[in-house]
Amino acid sequence: MVELALPKRSQIKNGKRYKAPSGSKNVRVYKIYRYDPDSGENPRWDKYEVDAKAHGPMVLDALIHIKNNVDSTLSFRRSCREGICGSCAMNIGGRNTLACTKGHEEYNGEITISPLPHMPVVKDLVPDLSGFYAQYASIEPYLQSTTPDPDKERLQSPANRDKLDGLYECILCACCSTSCPSYWWNQDKYLGPAALLQAYRWIADSRDDHTKKRLESLEDPFKLYRCHTIMNCAQVCPKGLNPAKAIAEIKKMMPAKG
Ligand code: SF4
Ligand code: SF4
Ligand code: FES
Repeated sequence: MVELALPKRSQIKNGKRYKAPSGSKNVRVYKIYRYDPDSGENPRWDKYEVDAKAHGPMVLDALIHIKNNVDSTLSFRRSCREGICGSCAMNIGGRNTLACTKGHEEYNGEITISPLPHMPVVKDLVPDLSGFYAQYASIEPYLQSTTPDPDKERLQSPANRDKLDGLYECILCACCSTSCPSYWWNQDKYLGPAALLQAYRWIADSRDDHTKKRLESLEDPFKLYRCHTIMNCAQVCPKGLNPAKAIAEIKKMMPAKG
């Protein structure tokens, strides 16, 4: 399932071309990465001509149209169609994004779609995110308090609640981590922008009492300090979040050495 022995994407050969039905008025061409590790074959680019009038406005609508009407073997993830679940994250036109929030009219010419980069591929546009989720689990993404449970709820001042803005909105789509060069080359050791933003979400939460333990667990040459502020993460986040800023905040909270 790991892609390492495969040809580089620029060397991948073209596969099938599916023609649009005759009489189509607004034809768009989708060039889509196809790979089935179980087949023993190399990846290929298939091209699908689609009449844009036959489906809704988003790139995800085009993919669903292709799967339902042209080629049922095409695999991709999706669920909410609202930019909430993060399932449809993929690389469209060279940039990681959500297929359900990108209109096909935002792209000129042929629209190239491939899975999130530098991840093992399960099939076609479906990456294997098990390592990504394990890293998320490793930051213990839940409230940890040393005080007894209240009868109703743990209160928080509006000012402290405001500190979670820009953090709680993360949908764990992995667009940021898979656009981060530091994560590409060290994803076995570097936690990456998504997991670190989530780590800071709990460090910044006034109701959580385990800040010290959380910081200690990140005090590691690789887990946190592989971020070199390249900023790809903030540029691609479809929710407009800034993981690099969250990472910088964690670094500032680390006790000074020496
Ligand atoms: S920070 Fe943004 S890009 Fe990264 S996982 Fe969260 S929502 Fe996705
Ligand atoms: S700022 Fe840090 S986390 Fe974001 S892309 Fe750059 S190296 Fe990766
Ligand atoms: S389908 Fe849920 S974010 Fe796109």
